Amino acid sequence: MKDAAPRAVLLSDYAPYPFEIDEVRLTFRLDPHATRVLARIAFRPNPAAEPSRTMRLDGEALKLLSALIDGEEVEPRLDDTGLTVDVPDGAFVWEAEVEISPADNTALEGLYMSNGMYCTQCEAEGFRKITYYPNRPDVMAPFHVRIDGEAPVLLSNGNPVHFGEAFAEWHDPWPKPAYLFALVAGDLVAHPDTFTTKSGLPVALNIYVRPGDEGKADYAMDALKRSMRWDEETYGREYDLDVFNIVAVDDFNMGAMENKGLNIFNSKYVLASPETATDRDYELIEGIIAHEYFHNWTGNRITCRDWFQLCLKEGLTVFRDREFTGDQRSHAVKRIDDVVMLRARQFREDNGPLSHPVRPSSYIEINNFYTATVYEKGAEVIGMLKRLVGDEAYHRALDLYFERHDGQACTVEDWLAVFQDATGRDLHAFSHWYTQSGTPRLRVLEEFEDGTYTLHFQQETPPTPGQDEKGPQVLPIAVGLLSPEGDEIVPTTLLEMTESEQSFTFEGLSEKPVPSLLRGFSAPVILDRATSTEERAFLLANDTDPFTKWEAGRALARDVLIRMVTDDAQPGPAYLDALERVARDDTLDPAFRSLALALPSDDDMAQALADGGVTPDPLRINAANRALNQKIAEHLSDVLPQIYEAMEVVGPYTPDPKAAGRRSLRQTALALMSRTDGGKRAARQFETADNMTEQMGAITCLVRIGEGADQLDAFFRQWDHDRLVLDKWFALQAGLAKPGDTADTMRRLTEHPNFDWKNPNRFRSVIGGIAGNHAGFHEPSGAVYEQVIDWLVRLDPLNPQTTARMTTMFETWHRYDTDRQEMIRAALGRLRATEGLSRDTGEMVARILG
Ligand code: ARG
Ligand code: ZN
Repeated sequence: MKDAAPRAVLLSDYAPYPFEIDEVRLTFRLDPHATRVLARIAFRPNPAAEPSRTMRLDGEALKLLSALIDGEEVEPRLDDTGLTVDVPDGAFVWEAEVEISPADNTALEGLYMSNGMYCTQCEAEGFRKITYYPNRPDVMAPFHVRIDGEAPVLLSNGNPVHFGEAFAEWHDPWPKPAYLFALVAGDLVAHPDTFTTKSGLPVALNIYVRPGDEGKADYAMDALKRSMRWDEETYGREYDLDVFNIVAVDDFNMGAMENKGLNIFNSKYVLASPETATDRDYELIEGIIAHEYFHNWTGNRITCRDWFQLCLKEGLTVFRDREFTGDQRSHAVKRIDDVVMLRARQFREDNGPLSHPVRPSSYIEINNFYTATVYEKGAEVIGMLKRLVGDEAYHRALDLYFERHDGQACTVEDWLAVFQDATGRDLHAFSHWYTQSGTPRLRVLEEFEDGTYTLHFQQETPPTPGQDEKGPQVLPIAVGLLSPEGDEIVPTTLLEMTESEQSFTFEGLSEKPVPSLLRGFSAPVILDRATSTEERAFLLANDTDPFTKWEAGRALARDVLIRMVTDDAQPGPAYLDALERVARDDTLDPAFRSLALALPSDDDMAQALADGGVTPDPLRINAANRALNQKIAEHLSDVLPQIYEAMEVVGPYTPDPKAAGRRSLRQTALALMSRTDGGKRAARQFETADNMTEQMGAITCLVRIGEGADQLDAFFRQWDHDRLVLDKWFALQAGLAKPGDTADTMRRLTEHPNFDWKNPNRFRSVIGGIAGNHAGFHEPSGAVYEQVIDWLVRLDPLNPQTTARMTTMFETWHRYDTDRQEMIRAALGRLRATEGLSRDTGEMVARILG
């Protein structure tokens, strides 16, 4: 039966829940097809809410076996989304028994099974598939959980209370919302360690993996201990339970989940060995372990009042994990990586039909709002706040936040009030960053007269869905000035722009300076400034800020590529020489040099062209990218082999940032050389590589130039037993298929016996690989669009969340020519018309089509 149009949830409708909970006691009798869940919940009226004699509980796909209030049987009124029941005046105890079937739960939300192991995912609203409950984040309670089951490992949140033959009891003393509930049961192996908090409390740490994966958790454990120490040293936050458990699961819709005391991770972000994981994998593991751990304070001890406030925990926690990674590795490189990602995902989102504010005000399915805007732009907003108030005031405000709101479910207003109170600053204008969507365009003009240099700024945010009129944003603009000789004459200065148009002057200069604008990418805006190639090359050579230095090179490459696409121009010597200087500059960090030699992606170029009013042609963009790489390879033919030799890392593989940076530059050199040597060196590296970074690097170079068939076979035979490595094999081929071969490649990969489409990682390897293959995805016949839609139609009834997420591949459809637009519209229309389409996917398709 098809539902009527699902109703939107509105921020303005928020009302507190009429009841509070003193304690939740849950008993699970595990069975794959008939798990029994007994809940005993002590309710009492919430003094802050309207009194009510009926109680509403959320519940989905539950078989209610019995319901009691204060020991007396009751008859609740059941419907599709929960139940309503009459309740006594004052406090009462609700008891219910339900039956659920974890083995049939393919949506991977609630209690489900993965390789015979029971596990849960309750954020955002999965707990309602476990028992009837007020499934909202502002209802917090201590949980007591008993698990009856045969599995050797039985885990839940908090501290262990009792263990015995086929049962375990857990108690979590910290009141928490149900989205942080977790349960795991299975045949798992622990990787144990210990940590002593700075106040001397011992914590037992365990990372649980499947038998066979032991030995692949060392790095995650090391990252966890470093995260725990860092949060103590940087934010004064200590861990608060006797145990901290992490479990790796193969079937997971997202990256990981911060359940109190029992984090559950996509195994991709836990398991690593030198032979199976790349440097990039190690870095992601470190960052995600940190992210989930940091949620213990920013998310768990202080949580969100409602899901509109998601950025309160996610933006802040992303900001914290970025700081951590910067401290552990390199702030310069981390910032550049993050900006590349922000532009690729968040700017893309913010400039299309899915644009929404960091704090949305309405949703149909909340899982559709775990977006780059909430996470990444949410983190940018915190970065701006920190820059505006300064480091010391930022930490004072954070101390106040933890002191004032510990144990509470909060809003963005609470967060801003803490900053206002700690700093005395009026943040009303700044708060628009949370409510106004779209990426501001910042135009700059300059003027120099009588020793006075003036920067004239003008900002404008284009209309986005539901928001036609935009006001000015508060923009922290970090600026430095260089003399024409390349000396820094004005060090980084923060300009605070609050109006639509504003000018800033610098006095007493003897000659016209060269401005270095938006240092550190101090605000998430699109900077629009007509600049000469010479000036960009000058900044690439002389800027002292690593971000703007890199940005100058990126802008050069973008300008060159645009002219190649639109005018068939050839790259000029100014650009190639500037690049050569970077390549030869041994004083630069290798990881930075590697970033500076990389070109913008095809998708970035499509967006840049569309921004400039040119309809992007994916095939031309791809041809230009290949031609420019070829030119660079030829121009740098002397220096590349030298870099390749010099950056060799001798000795056994270690994932440390220094070695990883050298390998990254070495790989950039290899990729360029492969354009001119037919893949000779890459083939040799493939033979000798003793770690996945170099093996994967070599085979990537080969496949990109249309070689590597033998190596792909060899790789498959070597790794067909390792699911995470096999994901790479699938993703590589999908991501690098040539436009003319993409439809066939996709068919071949999806018909492959190892294409387990019900496993989200494997599905994303192929379909997500195609999404990242700009020219292949948009090949002119539209055959790839159709195949992608076929797969989304197939996956949706099983796993709506992953299906809905994958629809974002189409979010940029309005950029392209009318033929492609028509084909995408028709393909999405077919998805939309699918009988029984999920609410998740329905909402996404409707928004994308507009
Ligand atoms: N809170 C998790 C994290 O950011 C994300 C979980 C989201 N899951 C979901 N199904 N919406 O670490
Ligand atoms: Zn998070």
